[in-house]
Amino acid sequence: MPWIAHWGADPGPAVPAAAFGLTALPLLPTQHEGWAGRPAVSGDRDGRWPHLRLHIDGIDLIETGVETRLVDEEAGVEVVCLLELTEQGIVKARHTLRNRGEGAWTVGALRCVLPIPDTATEALGLVGRWALERMPQRSSFGYGVHSRENRRGRTGHDSTTLLFLGTQGFANRTGQVWAVHVGWSGNHEHSAERLPDSVGALGGGELLDPGEVRLEPGETYETPWVYFAYSGSGLDGLRDRFHRLLRARPAHPRKPRPVVLNTWEAVYFRHDLDKLKALADKAFEVGVERFVLDDGWFRHRRDDHAGLGDWYVDESVWPHGLHPLVEHVHSLNMQFGLWFEPEMVNPDSDLARAHPDWILAAPGRLPAESRRQQVLSLTRPQIYRYLLERLDSLVKEYRIDFIKWDHNRDLSEATTHDGRAAVHAQTLAVYRLLDELRSRHPGLEIESCSSGGARVDLGILERTDRVWTSDTNDPVDRQLIQLWTGLLLPPELIGAHVGPTRTHITGRVTDLEMRCATALFGHAGIERDLTECDADELSTLTAWINLYKSTRDLLHGGTVVVPDLPDPSAIVHGVVSADRSRALFSYAQISSTVANTPLRPYPMRLRLPGLEPSATYTVTIALRPHGGGLVPTTFGFAEDGTRWTGRALETIGLPVSRLNPADAMVLELRS
Ligand code: DGJ
Repeated sequence: MPWIAHWGADPGPAVPAAAFGLTALPLLPTQHEGWAGRPAVSGDRDGRWPHLRLHIDGIDLIETGVETRLVDEEAGVEVVCLLELTEQGIVKARHTLRNRGEGAWTVGALRCVLPIPDTATEALGLVGRWALERMPQRSSFGYGVHSRENRRGRTGHDSTTLLFLGTQGFANRTGQVWAVHVGWSGNHEHSAERLPDSVGALGGGELLDPGEVRLEPGETYETPWVYFAYSGSGLDGLRDRFHRLLRARPAHPRKPRPVVLNTWEAVYFRHDLDKLKALADKAFEVGVERFVLDDGWFRHRRDDHAGLGDWYVDESVWPHGLHPLVEHVHSLNMQFGLWFEPEMVNPDSDLARAHPDWILAAPGRLPAESRRQQVLSLTRPQIYRYLLERLDSLVKEYRIDFIKWDHNRDLSEATTHDGRAAVHAQTLAVYRLLDELRSRHPGLEIESCSSGGARVDLGILERTDRVWTSDTNDPVDRQLIQLWTGLLLPPELIGAHVGPTRTHITGRVTDLEMRCATALFGHAGIERDLTECDADELSTLTAWINLYKSTRDLLHGGTVVVPDLPDPSAIVHGVVSADRSRALFSYAQISSTVANTPLRPYPMRLRLPGLEPSATYTVTIALRPHGGGLVPTTFGFAEDGTRWTGRALETIGLPVSRLNPADAMVLELRS
């Protein structure tokens, strides 16, 4: 069994042999290798072979890494371990287990792990819920297992997304950090384990239910890709590696990300052709480029009680199909997008009435309904074919440019009709369906939505073009949600919309400028009834869209930087162009601050990192807080056009006067 001596800072070319001692970790830790923790590989053949003894059967150096074949001949198990090192310094790991014996081999677990040193003493993960996804959770990491497990059958609102271990006090731009991400949209775990007598292990993999993967002789089980990243410069170093990795993908969306108008919070289920045409007119007026018709267009879907599965345009609401709307949208030169939730079915639907057995359940053991819906069993060929045909036909008929692909419930007790655990195969079937649809419609873009942001992972992102980050459009909460989602995803993959004045989900009332400043730093859009906006609001939106269009090459191609602030009541982040000649920084006040009172005229200075130290930048205000009274005019800040060097911007920082809670401003820097 090969051992991994080190994963982290570059130790130089000559690694001493002693490095392969106690601080190394076997490629697949098991008891045979002296590892007393959770084995990285487990399973059984009819209750036998609880412990594998794997030894090397071959090592291939491939262009991007190394592939090691391990076997336990007696147990009849082979595992091929693939480790790739990408140009961006990310380790991609994937193991494939083959049953080489007689009879079935049941896979228990197969995890990808790498060693982490004893200096990694703090853990950081993300956790969330509907409408507040990916909030940070920090704890110390000592001995034992720190495991974040997800059995929701989808990635989950509360998935950790990334699990980080770091040196004490690691922050946005300081400290050493090791991170893992499992690129999988079904059940999964991210975990770290340290025992007193060995080095720590960080890793993850799929979580399998009993008997879920049972391999007949010759069959294989492949783990999802597990991504490992190290940074010697805090979280920003990791963020940068992931963004560059994703941007290097051949299928990464490269066309300018179009400004979206999504109809959900504008009309919900109240679909009316004239109203939607008026909305499209207003959208066009302010500069929108893609019009997306959300839930409510198909048969029986007058609210969320019925209709899922009946993927035919509702004749009572749309007597001429969607054609009049689609033609109107296209005549305004906007793209047309449509909402689907293909994996789901309402019991109150023609589909469920005709095929009650299509629901993912063992006979007589229907899971509890959630949002009045059940899951379809996608591994059954007739169901898969039905969905593919419906999606394919509608994409063709309406020349759909974009699908918002939703998924609004956990898969609970997911069991096939013959009584087997179903999440693994169901997840692969969804991937196949997406892949097939994309190969039939190469220009089609797809959004991964799951009650907001419950399906955000690099497995789904291999076949989708952005995520719906969260159902909340509250800009204060969104500042945090987007910031933490942005550790994995670059801004162009993060759907971010300007909602109404009073946020529907939280009830918070905010200025339009705050909502615009927040949505600017993602794949921007609007989600409100524009026909109700007054002229001032429409002109603010128009100016904001112009700013987005003129800066989206920078926003969607630059390096994201997040300074470490002394004051947690504000969030500052920016995007710096590759040649460092341009940057946009956002300064958002998310709560009241002690420092930031009128009695203390020198609140937190804006120290802006990531710039060229010797260059001189002209700083202008690209987006002002509402009312303008709170712009940074006093105490040395020379309104628009002040000139500072990159070094001074980082070390001294711009003096700013206070912002009120829920105010934000955007600064543009040019050298
Ligand atoms: C949940 C999504 O997150 C929303 O944006 C919206 O599309 C609704 N589903 C529609 O039912």
